[in-house]
Amino acid sequence: MTDALDRLRTMQEADLPVHGGRTLAYVFDSGLDEVDRVGREAVAAFAASNGLDPTSFPSLLQMENDLIGFAADLLDAPAGAVGTVTSGGTESCLLAVQGARDSRPEIDRPRMVVPSTVHAAFLKAAKYFRVEAVIVPVGPDFRADPAAMVAAIEEDPDRTVLVVVSAPSYAHGVIDPVAPVAAAAAERGIRCHVDACIGGWVLPFAQRIGRTVPPWTFAVEGVTSISADLHKYGYAPKGTSVLLHRSAELRRPQYFAYADWPGYTMINTTLQSTKSGGPLAGAWAVVETLGLDGYDRLARDVFEATDRIVEAIGAIPALAVVAPPDSTLVAFRTDGSCDAFTLADEMAARGWHIQPQMSYADQPVTIHLSVSAGTLAHLEEFVSALTEAVAAAVAAGPVVVDPEIAAFIAALDPAALTDDDFDGLLAAAGLGGGEGLAVPERMAPVNAMIDLASPRMREALLTAFMDRLQRPNRG
Ligand SMILES: Cc1ncc(COP(=O)(O)O)c(C=O)c1O
Repeated sequence: MTDALDRLRTMQEADLPVHGGRTLAYVFDSGLDEVDRVGREAVAAFAASNGLDPTSFPSLLQMENDLIGFAADLLDAPAGAVGTVTSGGTESCLLAVQGARDSRPEIDRPRMVVPSTVHAAFLKAAKYFRVEAVIVPVGPDFRADPAAMVAAIEEDPDRTVLVVVSAPSYAHGVIDPVAPVAAAAAERGIRCHVDACIGGWVLPFAQRIGRTVPPWTFAVEGVTSISADLHKYGYAPKGTSVLLHRSAELRRPQYFAYADWPGYTMINTTLQSTKSGGPLAGAWAVVETLGLDGYDRLARDVFEATDRIVEAIGAIPALAVVAPPDSTLVAFRTDGSCDAFTLADEMAARGWHIQPQMSYADQPVTIHLSVSAGTLAHLEEFVSALTEAVAAAVAAGPVVVDPEIAAFIAALDPAALTDDDFDGLLAAAGLGGGEGLAVPERMAPVNAMIDLASPRMREALLTAFMDRLQRPNRG
């Protein structure tokens, strides 16, 4: 009988590599084997421990309070600030919205004001918690436009429970002007959340190693909460983020206590109830291993890698960065000679995983890179691969979607997409349909097709696609 672990290892071979610094989205690689080992062993040691009840598992409470203390110092939190370790960025963002909403129970139809670049997690929160999201276009520099944000608050300040800004935004890697937005929120007694899920564990170290970072922490008056993910630039195993509040009073509505049933009296600090102690222990072990000095070193590496990538992009005529990065995320576009989706495929063929972002509003397709410290050791290989991949994409020419398919997509109503429509699209894209759906090796033709669709249509297509992927393997 084949050992289950052997079979898992075989299955894992089809996944993106999580080590080696060549996966520039989804995973964050310190490049340090010892950090990976310590994180993994800690996860395994606490995998069965239950964070539901800190009195039964006091070690988990200690780890959480240690991590929040570490984060509070990093984020310039005042005395009296508190926090919670959550399962990831999305849970931290959801709780920021839920807490803001439930702090104002007198408001019938709560709303929140967000820049158009805010992470989709906030739109998910809007959907789950029925908070109206007022989406404000960003300025030409892709940063939140403070005057427009204030005007949006002013349209209905009495119903506004939250304003959100990012440090930095995922899509463009720039930091919103936190100070004027937070000040305007504070003036009106409205909460202001800084979504530093992706920057929160690297920007403080950028400052420590002498780089200039625009103000975004609790040092900014009016910032009431900050999310910062350990499983991104904390280089911890997946499954942890922190949500910090300026005061215990601000955190209180996040808690859920329930005693009016015959079972155990319940107090939950997050969306989850039973939760594995594994990710928390993994994050604690990684932070204790690295400490401030370790993170300083990793920050030096990741910013050197980012700077060199920006320089390399600048040296390739077909490419241009969308905005000079404020952190470790790089977004770049291609000119008409180089199809961005083909470029992503060409990079994948060379072992580098970069993330295409669909065209949006008046912006063309872009490529996103979440640079890791572990990428620095392979920077020359990255630059050669990018140079070669651009040449290959230029030689291949643009991906042309069959005009009939384009017309078919344009004629579909996303609200009424049927299984037959979807099968027709799959067949048109050469992906078959019905049973046996598989992710193709070259994504450019599929991406080019999706790129033609409206955001609503893209959502309907993705939903239909996921529905087909998520089917049970039955005996
Ligand atoms: C700015 C920002 N917020 C929120 C999230 C959501 O985090 P997660 O994927 O951990 O749920 C991300 C993820 O990349 C992010 O970049």
